[in-house]
Amino acid sequence: IHNLVFSNSESASKLVAKEIADLIIRKQKKEQNCILGLATGSSPINVYAELVRLHQEEGLSFYNVITFNLDEYWPMEKTNVQSYHYFMHEHLFNHVDIPKENINIPDGKVAQENLLQYCLDYESKINQAGGLDFQLLGIGRTGHIGFNEPGSHHNSVTRMITLDHLTRIDAAPAFHGISNVPKKAITMGISTVLNAKRIILMAWGQNKAEIVKETVEGEVSGAVPATYLQHHPNTTFVLDTGAASELT
Ligand code: F6R
Repeated sequence: IHNLVFSNSESASKLVAKEIADLIIRKQKKEQNCILGLATGSSPINVYAELVRLHQEEGLSFYNVITFNLDEYWPMEKTNVQSYHYFMHEHLFNHVDIPKENINIPDGKVAQENLLQYCLDYESKINQAGGLDFQLLGIGRTGHIGFNEPGSHHNSVTRMITLDHLTRIDAAPAFHGISNVPKKAITMGISTVLNAKRIILMAWGQNKAEIVKETVEGEVSGAVPATYLQHHPNTTFVLDTGAASELT
């Protein structure tokens, strides 16, 4: 893991957006699709804002982009404002020229009896597209990436998980109370993420400092799933001074 520390998250986010834009353009020149793994939550909001600006003001096209989102709550309606489906359209997809059929987000309404097959199909779709060229990540205070909570295996693939209690506490304000936070989610697995050719994890603020330290400096263990990133050959942590403050 390589760390890059910035004085503020806005300038850091612009740099991350620039790397994604450069990758999209490089793929266009080679007449190839660009396969992006995307995250939701507060951490990537400024990256998406900058990508939208690059589209609207600098002509960046998403015609060759295929996206796979990391996760979605279950059960969850697409139209619900708390859904990751809604989030992605609001912050990115409604404002750029990505073909609708190129957007993949786990379906929070898939029936329980179809879940296993649904998750296997999501996994194969990533592989059939050629694998993830780039994966954007945030990190939860449990050490989750995607919704791979403590206990996740390094070989895990897309599946249904049970959300950690701390994760539900952190999501409670957005849901107006913990009792409204879904107990389950569909997430890409650790192995799905680690198969990406390039990974950037972003963390902002003091409340991420402890988990960032454990992730970067601790031993690799399923107790802190983000530590599996130590085994990935091309991962950068993009941090602000708050999130980097406990690193030695
Ligand atoms: C979201 C996701 C989660 C978040 C993490 C941090 O798609 O996979 O792992 O990245 O919970 O969330 P924020 O950015 O809101 O602190």
